[in-house]
Amino acid sequence: MNPYEASKKTESLCRLAPVIPVLVVDDANIAQPLAEALIKGGLTVLEVTLRTPSALQVISEMAKVQGGVVGAGTITKASDVTDAINAGAQFGVSPGSTDDILEACEQKKLPILPGAATSSEIMKLFNLGFSVQKFFPAEAVGGQSALKAIGGPLPHVKFCPTGGITYQNAKSYLQLQNTLCVGGSWVAPKNLIENKNIKELNIKKRNHIDSALGLTTHQGIVIYCNPLIKVNTLEEIEKENLVLILDSLTDSQNVGSIMRTAFLFGV
Ligand code: 3PG
Repeated sequence: MNPYEASKKTESLCRLAPVIPVLVVDDANIAQPLAEALIKGGLTVLEVTLRTPSALQVISEMAKVQGGVVGAGTITKASDVTDAINAGAQFGVSPGSTDDILEACEQKKLPILPGAATSSEIMKLFNLGFSVQKFFPAEAVGGQSALKAIGGPLPHVKFCPTGGITYQNAKSYLQLQNTLCVGGSWVAPKNLIENKNIKELNIKKRNHIDSALGLTTHQGIVIYCNPLIKVNTLEEIEKENLVLILDSLTDSQNVGSIMRTAFLFGV
């Protein structure tokens, strides 16, 4: 799979959903329910970081869930590529771009979203054929305004910015012409997806509903709520295991409309 083919694939993945959850999961037992919840919420592309001892097992478990596409993040060396493929990853994400990773991905046919932070890195990747890249660490290297500026001289490169993206600033990125989607760990924070915290959050569920309806607080696992899931009442929200409605990241011109973000507990 050459870089052009890889970018074609990663572009189609980046267009599937406006947000790619970046998942740091310790407990493989939570992998399937978490993937089911995120996919049900409309986040069908999942990035599992290779940062925990169980990451490969987590990928294997998540890959069994229907309706999603699971990839491996934090690929930092060539052997990660083989491990990710063997675990069932369908794409890879790297914070940077080294020759050995790019070669391994080409040889092993793993579509890679290679990381870049500067114009030179972006140009180097683009000249190899990577027209879709991860812009990382997005906020630390200038954020939305940097990415917008890069789009001036380099309009043909499309990005998935990650690193410091939150539900508050996601919208500003998604409005850029050169941004296909954003990635972030805020969607499912590590501390909140561990079993004990999910239980804790269940207890607080009602409070969160009340807060959410008042559009005041937010805490928990934020998911993109598929516009096709129509929920209007508290009963319907409970039935869907969703806690509505936190914010509206509306009308991204590139990726369709993000109708709502929602909290999800008790999956
Ligand atoms: C990553 O690869 O770790 C992502 O960029 C996530 O960054 P975040 O934790 O700031 O969302």
